Amino acid sequence: MSEGDAVDKLLAELSEFERAALEAFERASDAATLEAARVRFLGQRRGWFKQLEQRFRALPREGKRTCGPRFNEVRSRVREAFSKAQARLEQGAAQGGQPEAAAVQPTGGLRFGGAAVTAGRAEAFDFTVPGKRVRRGTLHPLTHTIEELIRIFGRLGFELADGPEVEDEWHNFEALNIPPEHPARDPNDNFYLDPRRLLRSQTSTVQIRVMERQRPPVRIIAIGRVYRPDVHDATHFSMFHQIEGLYVDRHVTLAHLKTVLRQFAQAYLGPDVQIRFRPSFFPFTEPSVEVDMSWDVRGGQWVELGGAGMVDPNVFRAVGYDPEEYTGFAFGLGVERLCMRRHGIHDIRLFYENDVRFLKQF
Ligand code: PHE
Repeated sequence: MSEGDAVDKLLAELSEFERAALEAFERASDAATLEAARVRFLGQRRGWFKQLEQRFRALPREGKRTCGPRFNEVRSRVREAFSKAQARLEQGAAQGGQPEAAAVQPTGGLRFGGAAVTAGRAEAFDFTVPGKRVRRGTLHPLTHTIEELIRIFGRLGFELADGPEVEDEWHNFEALNIPPEHPARDPNDNFYLDPRRLLRSQTSTVQIRVMERQRPPVRIIAIGRVYRPDVHDATHFSMFHQIEGLYVDRHVTLAHLKTVLRQFAQAYLGPDVQIRFRPSFFPFTEPSVEVDMSWDVRGGQWVELGGAGMVDPNVFRAVGYDPEEYTGFAFGLGVERLCMRRHGIHDIRLFYENDVRFLKQF
């Protein structure tokens, strides 16, 4: 065999070796297969490359010079393919996936499918790599609370009603039996927009609006924002939410009120919650009570929830209901308070600061 022939043969076999080794490493679907391929192609004692190396060494100087660069190129490509296969299998194992599915990736890294396709292999797609997570926002805790309040009172037979946040004095005060000289109407305690209109200071406005357009029986709740120029602290904010309830029919009593509020409190906060009434005063209810609740009566810890009472006859007269024929109860509770109690939130300002660290917990 002439020297030239020996060189040509070695170059040809190098290419054959390269093709076979790359394919074997790419196809290796588990550690054992990869190891077998390593021994066969790169084994130190009787591996294919070792044999090629021996023949290379036997070449005369001129032949070495011709083959050398190609020899080095093939060696580094094959070794690289082996390391890649190793990394791929380790990654698959770390992700607990099925490395089999990853067995046919093209070698060229970011090379597009072309390489794999022309080589007659399946397109590379690793079904085991976790997908990109779509980050979803969360609903505001108050939105959660409001939705739940609507559900609970819905089960108790209350329909949802609504009214405007910019109100006139009739709906915010007069029809609710709050006369012009009443301190609640002090401009310093309200957000007046002009002498006749203001941001509503309570959701009791919606009682009037509903009764003005509807005959009894009435059984509604209204939930929404109310505004008062309070100094901000852990329990006060100039805007907050109330839930208002109104039930008007023949023979409605204070006992109905207490039952409804207790059933609500237990549905929202748990079966052990108790409520209690304390005598109070509101211009639009008579008698009036403050509603407290607690789930640890023995601990003596009561939290004020809001106000309630039997609808004052003057309110019925203002909307054209006959107070001799109908009675009713009304209540107004703070939504933030309920939500804070439920989640152990201690500062009302957290609701309005848009701090994602707070909001994303809900
Ligand atoms: N509107 C009252 C308030 O804002 C609460 C209330 C509603 C009291 C209904 C009695 C009846 O304080």
